[in-house]
Amino acid sequence: MSLILDLLRRAPELEKISDSPVLDTQRIICSIINRDTSYLYTWPQSEITLNELKNFEALFARRLMGEPIAYLTGEQGFWSLILRVNSHTLIPRPETELLVEIALNVNVGPHASVLDLGTGSGSIALALASERSNWDITAVEKNIKALEIAKSNGVRLSLENVDFISGDWFSPLISRRFDLIVSNPPYMAIGDENLDGDGVRSEPKEALVSGVDGLDSLRYIISQSPNFLHHDGWLIVEHGCDQGAEVRQLFLSEGYVEVLTYSDLNHQERITLGCANCS
Ligand SMILES: C[S@@+](CC[C@H](N)C(=O)[O-])C[C@H]1O[C@@H](n2cnc3c(N)ncnc32)[C@H](O)[C@@H]1O
Repeated sequence: MSLILDLLRRAPELEKISDSPVLDTQRIICSIINRDTSYLYTWPQSEITLNELKNFEALFARRLMGEPIAYLTGEQGFWSLILRVNSHTLIPRPETELLVEIALNVNVGPHASVLDLGTGSGSIALALASERSNWDITAVEKNIKALEIAKSNGVRLSLENVDFISGDWFSPLISRRFDLIVSNPPYMAIGDENLDGDGVRSEPKEALVSGVDGLDSLRYIISQSPNFLHHDGWLIVEHGCDQGAEVRQLFLSEGYVEVLTYSDLNHQERITLGCANCS
């Protein structure tokens, strides 16, 4: 017979692969018994069934092999939402919440049309939809399997003002214009050593890598967005913490004004925005 407490005591085994062994163990237990963390603290002496134990051992072994906890439990918190994720989607990052915050504060009016390029699990589009029910949001994603997850997140969260479309960046949007374009595109360089980091190595490479300097997608999105933005429209992108100067230069050379970079909670340059087609 095993108790919740016995499973919690397994946490130190994860120390060699995780910076958060206790939290990881708790999340695995919560997912197999379908309870929240407070239950573990309140009822540590509860028995778990043989089947639950088997499921715990299977997930714990996968975590020991370095698989990210979000892929094991199938979900990740982002903004105020719990999103379904799997190995076809990037795991939404806390840094990207800064992009959402900036987008919510940009001056685009109450009925803005918004485009999210490379939506992955739908994180940015759905976070914006949860805050602005009158915005008309389009989300594009190239990976069909990621797009399925994004659509299912939209349905599960009953956020109906997001239209999820399959395609390669702007290709499904010929002759459309938006008030605001947001994107967290792939921005790591081929061969970047961080691609081997805990968790990152399990994520889809096409969600992370973009050319020899990591800037191919950003170059394309920054150069093309003015063709898809209304007069006084805004582009907001996430980028690597060492790419701020180059990204600002790309914005300026394409004629954007009011170009500004924001730093994340770790004081790293992370999000740049600019206004296109300004008078
Ligand atoms: C860094 S991930 C961001 C995912 C999500 N927006 C987020 O912040 O959690 C980049 C996403 O862009 C998608 N992507 C890459 N190339 C693309 C392209 N050419 N057209 C559309 N989406 C693309 C990837 O599949 C991936 O889902």
